[in-house]
Amino acid sequence: MRRLFPSGQPAVPTAPAAPAVPAATGVSAAAGQTAGSGGEWSLDRLAAAYAYPAVARPWLRANMVSSLDGAAHHGGRSQPLSSPADMRIFGVLRGLADVVIVGAETVRHEGYRPARAREAFAALRAAAGQGPAPAIAVVSAGLELDFSARLFTAPQVPTLILTGAAAPVERVRAARAAGAEVLVAGESARVDAARVPSVLAERGLTRQLTEGGPRLLSQLAAAGALDELCLAVAPRVALGTAARVMHGPESEVPAEFVLESVLEEDGFLFTRYRRPGAASAEAGTAE
Ligand SMILES: NC(=O)c1ccc[n+]([C@@H]2O[C@H](COP(=O)([O-])OP(=O)(O)OC[C@H]3O[C@@H](n4cnc5c(N)ncnc54)[C@H](OP(=O)(O)O)[C@@H]3O)[C@@H](O)[C@H]2O)c1
Repeated sequence: MRRLFPSGQPAVPTAPAAPAVPAATGVSAAAGQTAGSGGEWSLDRLAAAYAYPAVARPWLRANMVSSLDGAAHHGGRSQPLSSPADMRIFGVLRGLADVVIVGAETVRHEGYRPARAREAFAALRAAAGQGPAPAIAVVSAGLELDFSARLFTAPQVPTLILTGAAAPVERVRAARAAGAEVLVAGESARVDAARVPSVLAERGLTRQLTEGGPRLLSQLAAAGALDELCLAVAPRVALGTAARVMHGPESEVPAEFVLESVLEEDGFLFTRYRRPGAASAEAGTAE
């Protein structure tokens, strides 16, 4: 793994510095400061590089992978576009998050399971006041989900369902009976994407990560709720008609994002962009 941007000098902070990560975790902000020049980065180093910024509000980041030609999946799965380094970063981003927000179609396609409690992140999470694993929050209007799956029956922390007030009553009942917590974030059966960060923050879940899919992510971006996009570009051409990482109605004007960092391994680019106006992620992160 090597850092391509910013190169050489550590970035100049543009927001109040994030508190140092406690030494007891084995992860320090300094661990992320040196420019990488190859070799596998430790989980600690990646965790320091991707630390959430210290802002007094929820922070929503997305993690997605795309082929060179823009496909967000191949054969209905993202795995053919991924790599060991991508999976490593995927795991680190989960390790840092309070909650992982995901669209129901991705849950159905990818056979989502509960997030694991990983020993590598145990001290870091404890020091940050987090439970052992992030909750998974599934966004769904119809709730046609397999409530007998491990995602609902055997999570470390109860799986959440984000839905609208007019969601089918029977399916809501089935979700609750399976152990899920149902949160309402919309007046119709659908979720109002703009409300997602605050509804989760009300439960103390402020370090938010969405793993898509493209239809959900497009709504979060359109609502101005997306603070940060961690986009991996795979050195692969997928062809076909797969959606891009955001799939929805065209915006009136393309929204600008600001480049925070670029890492590289095996030809994969791990880019990180933030929304202008969101506090800079640089202060709490340097890779
Ligand atoms: N490249 C990547 O990084 C990446 C990441 C994730 C997924 N993917 C791929 O993307 C594909 C799936 O993505 P997708 O875009 O089709 O689906 P998606 O965004 O994962 O899920 C769409 C579903 O989410 C629910 N939903 C979305 N917005 C909602 C709202 N406002 N209110 C209530 N429910 C809402 C609906 O569920 P109900 O139908 O249950 O109402 C909808 O059918 C899969 O092939 C997956 O492999 C790729």
